[in-house]
Order: sequence, then C-alpha cells, then structure tokens
Amino acid sequence: MAKLTDISREDFSRLSLEAKRPYLERCEGDGLPYHTLFAQQFDRGILERLCTLANRIRFINKSREGALYLKTVLAHKRAMLYFSQPSSRTFLSHLAACQILGMTTGSVRDAATSSEFKGESHEDSIRTFSSYFDMIIMRSPEQGLAERMAWELSNSSRPIPILNAGSGKDQHPTQALLDIYTLVRSFETKGGLDGRTVTFCGDLMRGRTVRSLSYLLTNFRDVKQIFVAPQELQVPADVVMILAKKGIDFEVTDDLKSAVKVSDAVYMTRIQDEWDSSKGASARIDTSKFKFGAEELSLLKKDGALLHPLPRRDEIATCCDRDPRAMYWRQMRNGMWIRAALIAATFGLEKPIMDCGY
Ligand code: CP
Repeated sequence: MAKLTDISREDFSRLSLEAKRPYLERCEGDGLPYHTLFAQQFDRGILERLCTLANRIRFINKSREGALYLKTVLAHKRAMLYFSQPSSRTFLSHLAACQILGMTTGSVRDAATSSEFKGESHEDSIRTFSSYFDMIIMRSPEQGLAERMAWELSNSSRPIPILNAGSGKDQHPTQALLDIYTLVRSFETKGGLDGRTVTFCGDLMRGRTVRSLSYLLTNFRDVKQIFVAPQELQVPADVVMILAKKGIDFEVTDDLKSAVKVSDAVYMTRIQDEWDSSKGASARIDTSKFKFGAEELSLLKKDGALLHPLPRRDEIATCCDRDPRAMYWRQMRNGMWIRAALIAATFGLEKPIMDCGY
C-alpha cells in the first residue's frame, strides 16, 4: 500500500492529484479516504457509497433510539475544527455532523487567538492539535496547506486524519460532496444525474467549489458543463484542461439566459472579492448579466434545480427562494448528512452503520 511515510513531502507534492490518491486511502484498494484533501479522491463508486451512507444516517437519526445509537458510534473520538478563514455553513455543518456521531469537538476560528499569533508554524500548531484530538477539520486561505499538514501528521508520532474544509482558491472537496449529494437527490426520481447539463455561473476563476464540483461531475456519464462568467472571472485553465483530457462536453459563454434554457441544474456563485489583488478590483467588473432572478427562473426547466454553495449576495434574487427548484437551503442541510457520512467512513464505520438494526 502507498504510504505517506514512504515518500518525501517534496516528492509527494510533485505528484498529480490522481497519483496522490492511493497515499490518502484508509485501506488499500478500499477507495475511501483517510485524509480528505481534494475532489480527485472520489470516483463514482465512492460517491455512491457516501450518498447511501448519508441517506442511512439521516434515516436512523429520525427516531430517538436511532439518534441515540448514532451518538455512541464515535463517542470515544474528538475532532478539532481549525478554521482560520470565515465560515458559517462549513463550520457549523461539520460541528453538527460530529455531534450526530457523538464526537466531542474543540475549535480555533481565528489564528489570532492561537499561538500562531506568537509565530508558531502551521506544522507545530497541527502537531499540537493532534496531541488532543483524533481528527482535524481545517479551513485555510493558504492553497495546499491541508495537503502539507496531512503529510506532516502521517509522518508524526500521532497520525490522525485531516479533512479539508476549504483550502485557498484551489479545493473545497466536502462542499462538492454535498453538491453532488444534492444533485443526486434532486434527480433520483427523475432518471438520475447521468446525461444532464449543469451550468456554473459567477466567479468561476476564484470559486474553489466550482473546481471541486466540476471534477466530481466528470464521474457521471455524459454530463455537459456550461461555464457562464465575465471574461475576467471565467473558469480557470486547469479545470478546462481536465475536462478536455477526459473528453467531457463543455461550453464557455457569457450568456446566462441561453444556458439556463438548456440546463437541468444551475449552480450560482458569488463574486469572491476577498481574493482581489487590489481593493475594489471586482467592483470594476460588470456582473449585471450574471444574476439569477424571476426571468431566469421562468426559463429553467420544470424539473430543474437551482443551487448555490452560499453565502450569496445578490446573484440569486430572494424571489426565487420559495420555488421548489431552489435547492440551496436543502443543499446546506445535505452538507451535515454527507459530512457525517464522510467522518463515519473515515473511522471505518460504513459497514456497522449500514448493517445496524435501526
Ligand atoms: N459554502 C461555504 O463554504 O459556506 P461557508 O463559507 O459559510 O462555510
């Protein structure tokens, strides 16, 4: 089995994401992740297993007896939520997922309140957290930090799993999992996700959820991807390269209305101006054509789905919120269930939960 202890940090960082995958698995050949770092760790089989486990957990949790059983499964484990970037949904849904599984938690939500403020390195901080906890769920503005920390921990005296809850502009794998879970549930009684057209709209250049979800969608047959954005914020070259290499049908355009008409799902994103190189740079981009309102809703297919990772600003008008095709509120809640499934699977609980009598 490929192990992070058998490869230097530098050699590991030079591998392609696909080549890194076996180093991050829980057990050889099983496919489920130990460290969850990027979307390339999930193929269709694993996605289906996690969606099935999430459905099972949400069903078991409906009864008092089932909920109490779930609270025992990881009652002996502790999770550290290390979020050095703002978050509402990702932080709270991971926290709630831990609570569903009975894990106790600790958190750092601002590096200024930890000893990093005194100059401690990320490596030393992570080693410190691993002394007290059994899993680290981390969000950072720094690209690749979760991966570096996974290597560090695997090569430490107390290896524990890392779960990437958003790293710089590159990846947000658990968001992509909840997006896929939402899409699968949206279309499960309507013939499934295969053969669908999914449109991404907004700040596609800096939206890490777009990079991760675009990759996960390539696991489904004949899913066309349409990217709608102002030229300055269009989908980055690395995403396009992956789609081209995999022979995925895709289109790049600035015409939202035409895209909506042919789409089964529309995934809106906000302008990520926190990444602006100069203050106010995003405000100079004309984004008026990249908003979803009553007119766009009237163009969306009757059985279509409107998604957004949230938070939103004005890219989806509130008049869409009560439409049955608006999935963004369900998407948030789905995040709690799929993250509970991922955490449970990381600790080897897929089979016990699937087979339990509840
Ligand atoms: N979608 C998402 O990552 O939301 P938060 O920033 O609120 O966690």
